[in-house]
Amino acid sequence: MKKSLQEGSHIKIVYPEQKDILLLQQASVLITLFAEMGLMIEQTVETLSAMAAQGLLALAIDETNLVVGSAAITVHYPGGVSEFGGWAVLQQHQKTGVGKELLIGLLKKTKAKKIIAFGNHNSTPIFLKMGGKVLDQKSLHPDAFVPCLTCNCKGKEKLQGGQKCVDTIVDLTPIIKQQKKGKV
Ligand SMILES: CC(C)(COP(=O)(O)OP(=O)(O)OC[C@H]1O[C@@H](n2cnc3c(N)ncnc32)[C@H](O)[C@@H]1OP(=O)(O)O)[C@@H](O)C(=O)NCCC(=O)NCCS
Repeated sequence: MKKSLQEGSHIKIVYPEQKDILLLQQASVLITLFAEMGLMIEQTVETLSAMAAQGLLALAIDETNLVVGSAAITVHYPGGVSEFGGWAVLQQHQKTGVGKELLIGLLKKTKAKKIIAFGNHNSTPIFLKMGGKVLDQKSLHPDAFVPCLTCNCKGKEKLQGGQKCVDTIVDLTPIIKQQKKGKV
């Protein structure tokens, strides 16, 4: 596998447990920062705790245990589809490999048959570069769009008929195959 984190980085990836309240609280604050910008859905400490209980919350922490990045398998839909989300890296740590390390780490851990993500202008180019494939919104279970009701995203009023979300929905499952071949 290509080395993701920059050489000499003091950042490490951890998978917190429910008892790691300080980490869960920081992750919730980090995600809220980006949720308020309309880039993702908020995650409470309780929802993050449930993800942590399944080992499906990944956090990037620095040497002082400050959370600088997060990613999670946030939802499981009927039919074996899981959603990757809460993908956030503090601006000063972006483009140093932290985001990719969080994504690849989680994809390795999950046993879901299919993983999808709601990609925005930041994440969609990365998903596609890594081998993700764009999905038709109609192929998703209606439950996938329930969080859209409370999302702060911009541009909802411009949605075409039948479209429920401003994001591009991407199938991340091909990335798992690429990763197994050591290509990402
Ligand atoms: C999306 C995000 C998590 C990515 O994290 P990151 O730490 O900056 O990403 P990385 O440094 O690991 O980069 C991963 C790869 O994507 C590439 N990349 C990064 N930003 C890119 C962009 N805007 N366009 C194309 N490629 C990009 C990097 O070059 C790297 O590829 P490489 O390994 O081939 O060099 C981060 O930008 C972020 O927190 N954005 C704000 C919140 C957000 O919009 N999250 C997405 C919600 S769906």
